[in-house]
Amino acid sequence: MLKKLDQAFPIEPIIKQVSELPYFEKFVQLNETDEGRLFNGPYRIKPEFVGTPLGNVLGALGAIGEARLLKLKPEASYMAHSDPDDRLHMSIITNEYCRIIDLEENQMYHLPVDGSVWLMNTGNIHVASNFGAHERIHLNIRVLLPDVKDNWVKFTVEGGDYDWRHIIQISITRWMNRAIKEGKMLGIRKLTDREMLVTPRDAACLEELVRVGEQAGFTVTTSTV
Ligand SMILES: [Fe+2]
Repeated sequence: MLKKLDQAFPIEPIIKQVSELPYFEKFVQLNETDEGRLFNGPYRIKPEFVGTPLGNVLGALGAIGEARLLKLKPEASYMAHSDPDDRLHMSIITNEYCRIIDLEENQMYHLPVDGSVWLMNTGNIHVASNFGAHERIHLNIRVLLPDVKDNWVKFTVEGGDYDWRHIIQISITRWMNRAIKEGKMLGIRKLTDREMLVTPRDAACLEELVRVGEQAGFTVTTSTV
């Protein structure tokens, strides 16, 4: 689920920069893009981070998506989910009880603070958890996804129970992560939590996506307008 990149960075200046940031609750965003471009970019490093250790990491990684510092407080965990876009991770502040857990492979990972960057296959259902007594801060970067082409289809899901967001993340999102890697989906653009534009490779791929949504309990509609 996690693969170390060849690139690594001097970690001490990054730790220093992160330690000196003003207090934040959950995340700090380091770059930005235009409205509606979350998955597709291009992203610009925020002016306050240009030329800093964190900004230099982003610059060296090339064309990347949204980059955030994510804080996990003591005893905190995410809910089980998949992401449509794979992620790069760099551990900056951690403790020995922090884990990324691949719930499909039943595997746990602890990322050491050594300047390494890890590519994480977030198509597997996973969580990050901090079982320790001190906060954890990771640099988390989205891998850009291809934008839709002219022949896009609008895909909408309605209904679902109170946990519809969670159900989307473990069904439709999981399928989407794989479908993009397998070439079944040639482009995706997020509109809202229930609505996206997609460019399927062919009719069968779109039918598969519709089936995944329906099997997860949603009313699915597709439209080309
Ligand atoms: Fe995730």
